Amino acid sequence: MLIDNHGRPINYLRLAVTDRCNLRCFYCMPEHGLNWLSRTELLSYEELLRISSLLVSMGVNKIRITGGEPFVRRDIMPLLSSLSALNGLDELTITTNGVLTAPYVNELKSLGIRSVNLSLDTLDASRFFAITRRDEFAAVMHTLEELLKHDIDVKINTVVMQGQNTQDILPLVELTRELPVSVRFIEEMPFNGDGHQFSGITWDHVRIMDEIRQYHPHITKAVDEPYSTSYNYNIPGHKGSVGVIAAYSRTFCGTCNRIRVTPTGVLKTCLYDDGVLNLRDMLRGGNTDQQVKQALLQAINNRAADGHEAERAAQSTASIHQSMAAIGG
Ligand code: GTP
Ligand code: 5AD
Ligand code: SF4
Repeated sequence: MLIDNHGRPINYLRLAVTDRCNLRCFYCMPEHGLNWLSRTELLSYEELLRISSLLVSMGVNKIRITGGEPFVRRDIMPLLSSLSALNGLDELTITTNGVLTAPYVNELKSLGIRSVNLSLDTLDASRFFAITRRDEFAAVMHTLEELLKHDIDVKINTVVMQGQNTQDILPLVELTRELPVSVRFIEEMPFNGDGHQFSGITWDHVRIMDEIRQYHPHITKAVDEPYSTSYNYNIPGHKGSVGVIAAYSRTFCGTCNRIRVTPTGVLKTCLYDDGVLNLRDMLRGGNTDQQVKQALLQAINNRAADGHEAERAAQSTASIHQSMAAIGG
């Protein structure tokens, strides 16, 4: 088992497979997109598999594939198939925007993928367009239907933003009345690729819950899964549940069990750090598995205590100007 220098078990890898995306969510990237990475800058299929299998041999038993949007990567299904066969991996899962996902749901199910996190910030098609700058609301809703039809657990991720979608909080909560989904409201973070000026949040997890509680006074706290980023709640009579993720307040760092690998193969031991190890250079430099493992162990032994410390320690402020798509969420 991997244990960090603060006694936290590390068993969860978030692997970003591309920086590219077919949406332009304004809280993630500018309207014109990013300067996309070239293919040679991205980790190859073989490199993604090697890093994953090394980490699984060291104690990682959960991998979440993120991006950018994972399904814009052409070899995503072969990659998922190879990862699903890794010995010691108990859970393989994906965070997707749902635009291209629906046709793959059947195959995801047959690979043993039991849960998918779907980004959806509104139930209103015109607000969807305003936030994502693309007219893909129907495609995302179709993916939601397909996932539920295939009995895949769905968590909906909603970034809450003043002046954009706070009127969607209650309709999204209402969705949980009939659908067995977990709707999680996320505090906005600064990682928007300089798409817009970020000056802190006005909707933190406390305010979001106050808003929900006002209309659902009988809401009760659920038992959270260990290492959960979300605080979860049940509403009597609802098939699904609701949650909040204090991503900006960073209240859950004390139990953080995750590390990240960016699309260019940089290891991040905290979302807010600057990147602590260039795995791609190590792999391309001909290092042995043993050498790579040693470097990984050293990085895990040197983690910041929390996201605030990681942010302070970051060598430049460049990281908080990065897009979530280039970090991997
Ligand atoms: P599960 O717990 O496996 O469902 O994953 P998750 O909720 O952590 O993953 P998901 O990709 O759905 O992310 C939901 C939101 O939580 C996104 O906005 C992430 O950026 C944020 N998030 C995930 N991990 C961390 C973290 O380590 N720190 C912070 N601050 N935010 C995180
Ligand atoms: N702040 C908070 N969450 C964000 N996401 C993307 N950008 C941001 C941001 N700036 C969320 C997406 C997706 C998840 C991986 O990260 O909504 O669901
Ligand atoms: Fe694409 Fe996700 Fe970023 Fe939106 S938040 S632009 S869906 S990577």
